[in-house]
Amino acid sequence: MLKNGANGCINLDLMRCLCAIAVSLGLTVSVVAQEAVKNDALWPERERLEHFLRKAKITDRKKIGTGITNPEKVTLEMDGIVMNAIYKKVDKKHDSWRNEVAAYQLDKLLGLGMVPPTVKRSIRGRKGCLQLWVTGTVMNEYEESFPDMDAWHQQVSVMWLFDDLIANIDRHLNNAMVSPGKRLMLIDNSKTFRIQKTLLNDLNGVGTGTHARFWGVEYDADRERYDTHYPPELIERLRTISKDDIKKALKKFVWGRNRGLVSDRLELILARIDSMGQAAYRRETAPPLGPPRSAH
Ligand SMILES: Nc1ncnc2c1ncn2[C@@H]1O[C@H](COP(=O)(O)OP(=O)(O)O)[C@@H](O)[C@H]1O
Ligand SMILES: [Mg+2]
Repeated sequence: MLKNGANGCINLDLMRCLCAIAVSLGLTVSVVAQEAVKNDALWPERERLEHFLRKAKITDRKKIGTGITNPEKVTLEMDGIVMNAIYKKVDKKHDSWRNEVAAYQLDKLLGLGMVPPTVKRSIRGRKGCLQLWVTGTVMNEYEESFPDMDAWHQQVSVMWLFDDLIANIDRHLNNAMVSPGKRLMLIDNSKTFRIQKTLLNDLNGVGTGTHARFWGVEYDADRERYDTHYPPELIERLRTISKDDIKKALKKFVWGRNRGLVSDRLELILARIDSMGQAAYRRETAPPLGPPRSAH
């Protein structure tokens, strides 16, 4: 089912589109294709992508040349399918590839689909992680407008909430990307899971120019609080996940107090959401959570 695009990447949009056309014409589509259409909100290719990242042969490695952790862009190949990934091996106390995998695991637990698939992988004996290379534009270079600003604001709200949960001190405009389908993708989650007892964003973005730019405001002299709001199913999920769920998701990558504090911050987040009342759910027709429509 994974199609090899012109740039050597899969094109999920194309796959879904072909399946939808086939179904509407009454044609038989394979079970895999039907599943993919039905489970749209959960990044249906996740497991296959994770498997690919773990097992595919590495055919090329290049230093990216930007950023401070010296990541590399690698090319992977398996069964005639070629994809790219970013490889990180940095492993310091406050900056580690382990946090990248942990952030992905937590994104999965919450059903967000905002962190691209990321797995542990050693290359030539050096431990690190591989994250799927996605197309899109880093926010810093994004110049288009958003056709549905409210939907965009909801994604930014979720990003600030997620960053509060994982104690991310590094969500600047080069560490978030906009997919061709206008989905917000959260890359570079290595500086996270700190000993942080408070919510760094207080579920909002007040304070810096970076936050205003995320909200679509060029300059915010008054540093207003923004009107953040969340998909109801996310709030529900946050209320139901247990300490144990968090422990299971993070156990191989984050330890001790750093891990325990994730549950503490979740409690703070829920208290803030409660204090917002109905405003937390303001958007009536919330866009589904899930991956960028074009994850290639
Ligand atoms: N998964 C990804 N898909 C596409 N581009 C990426 C991805 N991850 C990182 N990049 C690009 O590489 C740059 C550097 O990667 P980043 O993870 O931010 O490293 P650093 O920790 O060194 O800042 C990013 O700003 C972005 O342009
Ligand atoms: Mg970065």
